[in-house]
Amino acid sequence: MSFNNGSPSSNSGKLTAYRGHVVSPIDRATYKDIPEGVIVVDENGLINAVGKWSDFQRQQFSHVVNYGKQLIMPGFIDLHIHLAQIAQAGRSGDTLLGWLTKYIFPEEAKFASVDHAQHRANWFFRELAANGTTLASVFTSVHGKATDIAFKAADAFGSRVIMGRVFMDTNSPESLTDDPQKALAESDDLCSRWHGKDNDRLMYAFTPRFAPTSTSASMKAIGELWARHPGSYMQTHLSENIDEIKWVAQLFPSCKNYLDVYHTHGLTGKNSLFAHSIHLSDDEKALLVKTSSSVAHCPSSNFFLKSGAFPIREMERAGVKFGLGSDVAAGPEMSMFKVMRDAAFMQSVDWLSPAELLYLATLAGAVAVNKQDRLGSLDAGKEADFIIVDPTRKSSVDPELLEHPAEDILSNLVYVGDDRMIVSTYVRGKAIYEAKQAETPGALNYGSRVS
Ligand code: GUN
Ligand code: ZN
Repeated sequence: MSFNNGSPSSNSGKLTAYRGHVVSPIDRATYKDIPEGVIVVDENGLINAVGKWSDFQRQQFSHVVNYGKQLIMPGFIDLHIHLAQIAQAGRSGDTLLGWLTKYIFPEEAKFASVDHAQHRANWFFRELAANGTTLASVFTSVHGKATDIAFKAADAFGSRVIMGRVFMDTNSPESLTDDPQKALAESDDLCSRWHGKDNDRLMYAFTPRFAPTSTSASMKAIGELWARHPGSYMQTHLSENIDEIKWVAQLFPSCKNYLDVYHTHGLTGKNSLFAHSIHLSDDEKALLVKTSSSVAHCPSSNFFLKSGAFPIREMERAGVKFGLGSDVAAGPEMSMFKVMRDAAFMQSVDWLSPAELLYLATLAGAVAVNKQDRLGSLDAGKEADFIIVDPTRKSSVDPELLEHPAEDILSNLVYVGDDRMIVSTYVRGKAIYEAKQAETPGALNYGSRVS
């Protein structure tokens, strides 16, 4: 196996070399492991080459950034997160429907204030970057202005997002109940102005919250609008909680099952993304596959709200496309390290390898949103969305860990990883987050504190 994506690059334009230990998924089971590696990034923020530094060291670069033994990995892809819920993370007290009423709806109503929306958007995008997430699929709230503010904040910060204004026009508190015509017009306008901006760094997703808070007429209209914006996305929730599923059956008695509600309203297909999808029938799984729809598996959220367990091997066998989502605030943390760990812990019998979990948190997410040609791994021709990771920045980690084989390091990342391990986050070759320099690495910090 060769780890080079092609030969050392021809010298066109300005090239920056990032040296470090390159770890990047190839597929579910395998990954590139180049201990003294390099990724070469061109002036457009695309990866020009990946390989061993010894094959490149005689080449001229505009800059060489040497991260030593620290890891260079693709940034995380979080397929499902709620910007407007960030302040409610960790508020536990009920299962889905009660939790929405008690904690979430009052919080989302605050986004009618543009000052509030601005403050929260700034906080949200900084946090995403600090956690090493380089693409997130984001729900905002039912507020057009707040969603516009969120896009502006993402644009200014340099984040990559798929994002959309939430749509709810029935069974919702008054403060969050949309006038459907206004909601459609605002969604249409937001998509027209933001989808595809900066060469697809910013993308739009039509975002009906879930079937219980949508009328049949509004879902149909959203489906038609989505079809009029080629390349845009549709995101919603599906089959998360048993009471929710029973409610959907009562509300839409003529539909065969929960997914059929979305399907009959034109909301399945390529670029549709369904969060949770825990309790699906075989027919629903087959329909996801047939329509090329994708799923965001959100294990931390499923634990938090006692929603149930995602049948990961069944979904795989059925051929459903899925990656991972934090689902903040039902998921208590944005860190995809925690989400990987929870995905592993959720399976009470099946063992998921660290390599597979890394794949699920990166390349599988790119596949789920049909962007695997550009995102999800470190390969020539893809966007330079990468993170620098140093596990020894966490004081409980063996300070010698980076001397170990990649297999050990990956296992540590999955089971003890958190945001302290993120050194830098790059989107399209631009550093959008750099951690403060630790005085001394890892456990030695502890030593200096007690001395
Ligand atoms: N179903 C409908 N809305 C939500 C939400 O905000 N979070 C979760 N986890 N499930 C939902
Ligand atoms: Zn959600």
